[in-house]
Amino acid sequence: MDRTQELRDMGELVLGLRGISKHFGAVSALTDIDLDVHAGEVVALVGDNGAGKSTLVKILAGVHQPSSGSITFRGKPVTLADPSAALGLGIATVFQDLALCENLDVVANIFLGRELSPYRLDEVSMELKAWTLLNELSARIPSVREPVASLSGGQRQTVAIARSLLLEPKLILLDEPTAALGVAQTAEVLDLIERVRDRGLGVIMVSHNMEDVRAVADRIVVLRLGRNNGVFEPDASNQELVSAITGAANNSVSRRASRRQAQSGQAPAPEGRP
Ligand SMILES: Nc1ncnc2c1ncn2[C@@H]1O[C@H](COP(=O)(O)OP(=O)(O)OP(=O)(O)O)[C@@H](O)[C@H]1O
Ligand SMILES: [Mg+2]
Repeated sequence: MDRTQELRDMGELVLGLRGISKHFGAVSALTDIDLDVHAGEVVALVGDNGAGKSTLVKILAGVHQPSSGSITFRGKPVTLADPSAALGLGIATVFQDLALCENLDVVANIFLGRELSPYRLDEVSMELKAWTLLNELSARIPSVREPVASLSGGQRQTVAIARSLLLEPKLILLDEPTAALGVAQTAEVLDLIERVRDRGLGVIMVSHNMEDVRAVADRIVVLRLGRNNGVFEPDASNQELVSAITGAANNSVSRRASRRQAQSGQAPAPEGRP
């Protein structure tokens, strides 16, 4: 059974994009993008600066409207007219800047702007719910009454992810969740992403870091100049990925790989495996 079939068997198709294009005046940010995400699957969205990753995330978050193309969510065609429409359907987004309030504590941040939630103004239930969410994610937060300003980068990312799970979404979008983190914090956030996936959510993670992508992604989708440029398994070599991302077979990663092969005097190993 091939991998795509395996994934299809794994979970329902949560999200399907077909022929999505986005123009900003004369600029074509996205052209004819297709993308599928299944329940219980982490899809890494990779590509160079300006490849269109954030534009795609913003379309799914309801921030931008596509110029053309169709979006299917849980089997139904949908229009994501604004961020609340996306959130209401079950698409939650953790933007790169996290949008947390430094001076407020963890509980307040998790419930920030969720005035419609049944926990409104009930501090005890809010604290309990915050703890439950963080415990389910095995998050290492010392106290939910700590102001966010005193938390580490990884802990902040954790709070932002917990916050996005409050409304029980089916799909979560993470824009560069590990970009500003050290090694241990990155590992913690990657573990967290796995736990989110294990809850049966579809996850789209935008990242520049191939190690992180490989550690956690079930599929790697490459965008280049606003177009689809390949879908890879997590064990794809750096060489393959860099070629797809940059569009050039001759780059420092591929040159180093062939130098290594020449030095060892051995027959070339299968792609990317020394
Ligand atoms: N609001 C906008 N108005 C005009 N052009 C835009 C707008 N947003 C994005 N673009 C253009 O669309 C293209 C894709 O940008 P986008 O931010 O989606 O790339 P990205 O893959 O997220 O890049 P990065 O890795 O640098 O974040 C770029 O050429 C960018 O200049
Ligand atoms: Mg971006």
